[in-house]
Amino acid sequence: PAPFFLDCDTGIDDALALAYLLASPGAELVGIGTVSGNVSAAGGAKNTLDLLKLAGHPDIPVAVGAHDPQVGTFHGGAPHVHGDNGIGGVDLAPSDHEPVEASAAELLVRLAHQYAGELRLVAIGPLTNIAQALRLEPALPQLIAEVTIMGGAALAPGNITAVAEANIANDPEAAAEVLAADWNVTLVPLDVTMTNVLEENHRQELLATEHPVSQALGEMLGYYFGFYVDIFGRACSAMHDPLAAAIAVRGVELTVAPTVRVQVDTTDGPGRGQTVCDLRGQYAGFPEQRGARCRVVLEIGEDFAPHLLGTLQA
Ligand code: BDR
Ligand code: CA
Repeated sequence: PAPFFLDCDTGIDDALALAYLLASPGAELVGIGTVSGNVSAAGGAKNTLDLLKLAGHPDIPVAVGAHDPQVGTFHGGAPHVHGDNGIGGVDLAPSDHEPVEASAAELLVRLAHQYAGELRLVAIGPLTNIAQALRLEPALPQLIAEVTIMGGAALAPGNITAVAEANIANDPEAAAEVLAADWNVTLVPLDVTMTNVLEENHRQELLATEHPVSQALGEMLGYYFGFYVDIFGRACSAMHDPLAAAIAVRGVELTVAPTVRVQVDTTDGPGRGQTVCDLRGQYAGFPEQRGARCRVVLEIGEDFAPHLLGTLQA
């Protein structure tokens, strides 16, 4: 299996992504960083450690990362989406492990050297830690094999403002730095994470298993569905973070993902936090773009929920 580093703001869909990576035969999770987003960075680390204990992997190092974005301060989280504790009010048995001493950025840099050329980075929260790691180790892009980010919106509307998605909106300056760095990034935006959903029958399937992690995820999804019912008009939810994790593990072969130039709007106007994706290359004969290095996933060519559930229950 390939070594993976997960940077997250755990979070209900982050919990799904974590469980998916732990269960994937193609992935070995060697470290986790947390960042404020759905909950504080410290709260996300607690949720992550408790989930790791439940999953029987208590020893994977978890590092607390940035509490505040580069500009401004942490807004306090998204309890209306993820519950006060970030995992839908589900009470997990507390882990007896503490986060490691290092910051998330320090742990990422350390592991990037240890697994030079092999480490895969999956970022499913605001990109503050990743921008910090780039400043700590400017050679990071050469050390990391691949970066997969859940974030942004190419042609779809935003979910925080008309055009901005939460992970990018929570730290646009960091996102701009990360997307401008010299590495190959796959962006998994709202275009696909809002159109591939988990339905009530999937939730019931999780609840009916013997597996404690799947059962806990089924309970958390009850809360998550309560938020999305107002958006989709039925009990179901978007699948943001596990979709990004799956694309990181399996590659983009089953997707439509053109390589384009992506810029992040860091102005103070209504576009702040927008991922401006230059998709003009779809016109035959349009000259090749300079600086096009980000694969933007626009379509998924499979029914993803059965793959997720099958992996979790294997
Ligand atoms: C993203 O923001 C967070 O709320 C979710 O966990 C996901 O990473 C979706 O916009
Ligand atoms: Ca997340």
